[in-house]
Amino acid sequence: MDDTRGRTTKDGIRIYQPGDFAGMHKAGALAADILDRIAPLVVPGVSTGELDAAIEAMVDEAHAVSATIGYKGYKHASCISLNHVVCHGIPGDKRVKDGDILNVDVTVIVDGWYGDTSRMYVAGKLSRKAERLIQVTHDALMKGIEAVKPGNTFGDIGHAIQAYVEAHRMSVVRDFCGHGLGRVFHAPPNVLHYGRAGSGPVLEEGMFFTIEPMVNLGRPETKVLSDDWTAVTRDKSLSAQFEHSIGVTSDGFDIFTLSPAGKFHPTWG
Ligand code: MF3
Ligand code: CO
Ligand code: CO
Repeated sequence: MDDTRGRTTKDGIRIYQPGDFAGMHKAGALAADILDRIAPLVVPGVSTGELDAAIEAMVDEAHAVSATIGYKGYKHASCISLNHVVCHGIPGDKRVKDGDILNVDVTVIVDGWYGDTSRMYVAGKLSRKAERLIQVTHDALMKGIEAVKPGNTFGDIGHAIQAYVEAHRMSVVRDFCGHGLGRVFHAPPNVLHYGRAGSGPVLEEGMFFTIEPMVNLGRPETKVLSDDWTAVTRDKSLSAQFEHSIGVTSDGFDIFTLSPAGKFHPTWG
C-alpha cells in the first residue's frame, strides 16, 4: 500500500481514493462483528475485564491488531464505560449489575486500515430513563450521519446532533469529539457533536472520519479521573455514546462499521 496517495485539504483533512473504501469496510466490519459477538456476554455478573479479554481474543483470532493496546500507554483492547462514565472507561474487575448500561468501544487495524465503533449494551432490566437516553443518543448519531454529503460542512453534522439532543432535553458532551481516521487512528478534523449549521470545513468525497456523540441525561460537563483515562459526568448523571466510522461518497455517506448481524442498537435483538 502506498501511503502518499491522495491529497490533503487546507484544513489538513486527507482525501482518500475510491479504492480505499474497501479496506475501511473490512476493518469496520471486523470491529462491528466483534461488538455483535460480545452482546450475549453482557449479563449481570460479568466483569468489564472479562468482556475486554473476549474482545482481545477475537481480534487475535481474526489476525487483526488492536489499535488501543499501546496507544498513549493504554493497555486494553476496548474501552468500557458504565453508567455515568462518558468514555474511555478502563476494563477491570468491576462487575456489571442488573440495570447497568455500558458503552463498549473497539478499534481494530486490518491491513493498515482502522475500524472504530462503539455502541450501548444493557445488562438485565433497562430503566425507562436509560432506554430514552440510549434511543436519543443512537438517533442523534444517525441525524449526524444523515447530514454527511459533499458540500455540507462539519458544522452541519454537529448542529444536527445538538439540535436533536437538546430538543429531547438532554445534553451533548463538548469535551470529546469524533476524528478523521483511515491509515491512522486519530487525524484531522475534530468532529464536533455540536455547532452552527454551515460552519467548519466543507465535506468532500473521500474524507473518512468517525461520528461518536456522547449524550448526558444531566449537564454536559465531564471530568477525567486520577487514572488519567476515565471520563465521567461531573453531576453523576447517566451518559451514553454510539460511534460509527464513515466515508463521504459522491452523494452522501458510506458507513464502514455497520453491524453484520443488525445489532447496533441494543433493543434490536
Ligand atoms: N476508540 C476511541 C475513539 O473513539 C479511542 C480510544 S483510545 C484509548 O476515538 F486509548 F482509550 F483506547
Ligand atoms: Co473514535
Ligand atoms: Co472509538
